[in-house]
Amino acid sequence: MVVLCLEGMVIIMDEKKTIFSGIQPSGDLTLGSYLGAIKNWVELADEYECFYCIVDMHAITVRQEPQLLRKRTLAQLAQYIACGLDPEKNTIFIQSHVPAHAELAWVLSCYTVFGGLSRMSQVKDESAKNADNINAGLFTYPSLMAADILLYQADLVPVGSDQKQHVELARDVAGRFNGVYGDVFTMPEVFIPKVGARIMSLTSPENKMSKSDKDPGGCIYIMQKPEEIMRSFKRAVTDSETCVRYAPDTKPGVSNLMSIYSVASGKSFSEIEAEFEGRGYGDFKLAVGESVVELLRPIREEAERILADKAYIESVYKTGAQRASYVAEKTLRKVYKKVGFVQK
Ligand code: TYM
Repeated sequence: MVVLCLEGMVIIMDEKKTIFSGIQPSGDLTLGSYLGAIKNWVELADEYECFYCIVDMHAITVRQEPQLLRKRTLAQLAQYIACGLDPEKNTIFIQSHVPAHAELAWVLSCYTVFGGLSRMSQVKDESAKNADNINAGLFTYPSLMAADILLYQADLVPVGSDQKQHVELARDVAGRFNGVYGDVFTMPEVFIPKVGARIMSLTSPENKMSKSDKDPGGCIYIMQKPEEIMRSFKRAVTDSETCVRYAPDTKPGVSNLMSIYSVASGKSFSEIEAEFEGRGYGDFKLAVGESVVELLRPIREEAERILADKAYIESVYKTGAQRASYVAEKTLRKVYKKVGFVQK
């Protein structure tokens, strides 16, 4: 609670709660990340104190081409802003610019149990995809993610459903640490949207839409041109019925398209079913494609404009790193003191 004294008046304000979330710049931003995460960040931005990170340190758990990683990191920052995150109101920064992330990650790795890490699905999936490079970073990645969240004392972590396990692990670590040293960390809650929490590939709807998808037609990227987006939607896998109905278990392709259309257009599933009653999948896929083109068009145009302004981008990430460091270092100092490190 914050108490302000203004001209003899005492004003009591509830302090804003804190949000932390991040995305790896390991590929171009996808429609999945936008609908599962960023769109909700924008909706929550006014209500909370927000920290949005480009988690480049997470990205190197898989081998990255250095030039491309740099380019994608800056492009992602431009896209965050173009999606509606105002850098004046939100702290937008690059993870490697705030050394406290790596420092706290080490401490927390000493409070993360091996069995917990072994259960993480993302570790298993990425290990399967990168069998020639199953490195220690890939395995301890959730400790770094816990550090990201706990450094800012985040109350809420808005993510897609695939990240739920990692936020739960961050809660376990926070609980274990607090159990030993008292209330050091805020216990974070996961925030997962009702629709759009898991957008599936357009060509193999049993798999998550992912920036590392080997099939380019399965994934829609925020910066993609309208004609490419329409081409992918026209080729999207459906089923042998001709009925637009939400049934994720038996009609995964159509249900995925309905989720996308629902978030892009604001229509409910029953409104969509009514809209396409008696009409073929061709019409339906066209409508979904067009709604996504219109959703992404202003974002793409704005991101291109922002990306051209190198000085502005630099000022955003420098200010972001300063603001983030201020909060992160405060938590880190507290942690170092608790575990018994001598103050420097
Ligand atoms: P990442 O980079 O894989 O994905 C970024 C965000 O987008 C969501 N997302 C999706 N949502 C719905 N459908 C999809 N197909 C889809 N694909 C991605 C993810 O759930 C995520 O919210 N470990 C994280 C990054 C991270 C992080 C953090 C997140 C690092 N530190 C701290 C929150 C808080 C990751 O790999 O996300």
